[in-house]
Amino acid sequence: MIFETHAHFDDEAFDKDRDSLLSSMQQNGIGTIVNATASRKTVEQSIELTKKYPFIYTTIGVHPSDCDEMDDDELKWLEEMCSYDKAVAVGEIGLDYHYDEPSKEIQKKWFEAQIEMARRVKLPLIIHSRDAAKDTLDIMKALRSEEIGGDIHCFSYSVEIAREYLNMGFYIGVGGVITFKNGKKLREVVEYAPIDQIVIETDSPYLAPEPYRGKRNSSLNLPLVAQRIAELKGLTTEEVIEITEANARKLYNL
Ligand code: NI
Repeated sequence: MIFETHAHFDDEAFDKDRDSLLSSMQQNGIGTIVNATASRKTVEQSIELTKKYPFIYTTIGVHPSDCDEMDDDELKWLEEMCSYDKAVAVGEIGLDYHYDEPSKEIQKKWFEAQIEMARRVKLPLIIHSRDAAKDTLDIMKALRSEEIGGDIHCFSYSVEIAREYLNMGFYIGVGGVITFKNGKKLREVVEYAPIDQIVIETDSPYLAPEPYRGKRNSSLNLPLVAQRIAELKGLTTEEVIEITEANARKLYNL
């Protein structure tokens, strides 16, 4: 069954129909979902979802755009949450230079602190990196992140950068962008990357694949992503679903 490696079902975009939508997942072939967190509030909401649905797991972490008010107490709290038995990764953490705030210094500080936390709690990293290719890679190399492992979620960089992460043993997270007209760079990365280092994700409610671009996304759209990968790799959609599920189980130790 399909393994959704990254979605945000705590998002208010799902407030009206969250339960009916999530209840329909397994009968539609979505076997497992990892709900990704971005802040203390979303960690709490995400843990609630994992208690309600046996097939949902959660990451634990604060997103670079949400780390402006982070402090040592919050880091300590996050580390405690990592011992929850359905916590499967530290994320999404990283750097996002698309906006000016929080400052690069603050983002780097909490990115590094959460990588070290992942090492202590022995969970893989889910990395968010936008417009920050060099700094992200520099920090991850300096902190020997290849010893921790994980996934570069919603991969948006070139084949050259992908090669670095693949050599470090990381997985490349591929979502709806692969179906976009302007998704050529990602298609080149997928052509280059070994299929056993690719996982699929939606980042719901964002980044719906064609022909639903701009609409609310959900894991139910993942067959469209798997189909596009299959075309690029000369595989069947079923094979892509099977292989990426096995990859995701390795990534999250499930
Ligand atoms: Ni996300």
